[in-house]
Amino acid sequence: MYGIIHTELRNYVVSKLGEAGWASLVSEAGMELKAYFPSETYPDQEIRTIVSAAAKRAGVSEQDILRDFGFFLAPTLLTVYKPLVKPEWRTLDLIENTEQTIHKVVRRKDPGALPPELKVARMSKGEVIITYTSRRRMCSVAKGIAAGVAAHYGETVDITELECMHNGDGQCRISVKLVS
Ligand code: HEM
Repeated sequence: MYGIIHTELRNYVVSKLGEAGWASLVSEAGMELKAYFPSETYPDQEIRTIVSAAAKRAGVSEQDILRDFGFFLAPTLLTVYKPLVKPEWRTLDLIENTEQTIHKVVRRKDPGALPPELKVARMSKGEVIITYTSRRRMCSVAKGIAAGVAAHYGETVDITELECMHNGDGQCRISVKLVS
């Protein structure tokens, strides 16, 4: 996974627990403290191990942490990759265009980055359905990013998972409806 995810996970933990909290969480996770750089690539497993330790410490599920982390991550993605985001887009337009206009370009420009292939159907002006099939099974990150994008645009959305790999389905299908 691309280092921007690792550096942001570190920033997320520091925002909740402080620098010392990051160091102690890494140690609880049985990992060595090390520096992450956004343009390097690091094992997905390091994300899983830290998320698992964070969930244990907070007494919540790993999916809760991943979703909250996705929400935290959205503003950074929107800032770092601003040139890929059309100024006229709002939440559902951005999600609709993530695969073709954003993830595809990210994959081409940053060969280390392997964002998931999303299939997004615009059901109506007010709803998109995201089909997510990544082997990483991080649909909770997708839900968090969608919520974070909506917060960025000052919009309210209703996010419902219609199917989920974690419930034995072959794919995750996430409906995002614009409320206001
Ligand atoms: C400005 C918009 C976005 C940018 C620049 C962006 C870019 C990225 C990048 C660089 C990664 C790391 C991939 C890697 O290294 O393997 C990533 C991962 C991911 N992205 Fe996006 N993304 C954006 C929007 C979205 C949206 C709207 C969704 C879904 C609602 C989404 C879903 C995900 C998920 C779930 C991952 C975690 C990796 C995985 O599941 O395989 N992204 N994205």
